[in-house]
Amino acid sequence: MKFFVDTAEIDEIRDLADTGLVDGVTTNPSLIHKSGRNFFEVVHQICDLVDGPVSAEVAATDFDTMLAEGRKLSEIASNIAVKVPLTPAGLKTCRALSQGGTMVNVTLCFSPNQALLAAKAGARFISPFVGRLDDIAHDGMQLIAEICEIYENYPNLETEVLVASVRHPIHVLEAAKLGADVATVPPAVLHQMFNHPLTEKGLAAFVADWEKTGQSIL
Ligand code: E4P
Repeated sequence: MKFFVDTAEIDEIRDLADTGLVDGVTTNPSLIHKSGRNFFEVVHQICDLVDGPVSAEVAATDFDTMLAEGRKLSEIASNIAVKVPLTPAGLKTCRALSQGGTMVNVTLCFSPNQALLAAKAGARFISPFVGRLDDIAHDGMQLIAEICEIYENYPNLETEVLVASVRHPIHVLEAAKLGADVATVPPAVLHQMFNHPLTEKGLAAFVADWEKTGQSIL
């Protein structure tokens, strides 16, 4: 399973990229707003830090402007994945950009049929939002299961399932069990995945006992 980091905070991306566990980054207009920074500067910096796909979202909602914005964003770096919303105009933009060789991440997916349409439009990634479905008492992970099942039925569909709106490590675990290709994870959740109290307790005991031996490896 690939891990993308869901943030526009450069320090957090640098910190996590240093672990070698980060396969890409996703941003959205809300994350850019939260960063308080210039969109193009942030995305340039992220592309310099991370080799894998970096999602940058269009701002318009009509086809002509989304296509122009998508083309401009794709010029930032070769690893840009242009993010478009799951609307008829968004999927038309997806098709046009994909046919031109640009990676497209179709965002705001909340149903299996939407995911099927995005795959037919040539999306490189489909982003189903599990947390936002859970928030309204729908089963977000059920959506992932259905999309994975549908895509498996049609091996010619090359769209990767990118689990988005991840809120906690259990989302990542369940998505991995379902065989989703990618999870885009907020930095705090990725840090939570490293942690276990028994790891910390066990390591403290090993360090203390090693010191008592008076030996050194180096
Ligand atoms: C990522 O591509 C999505 O935009 C993001 O995961 C949405 O997360 P949220 O529902 O926590 O805003």
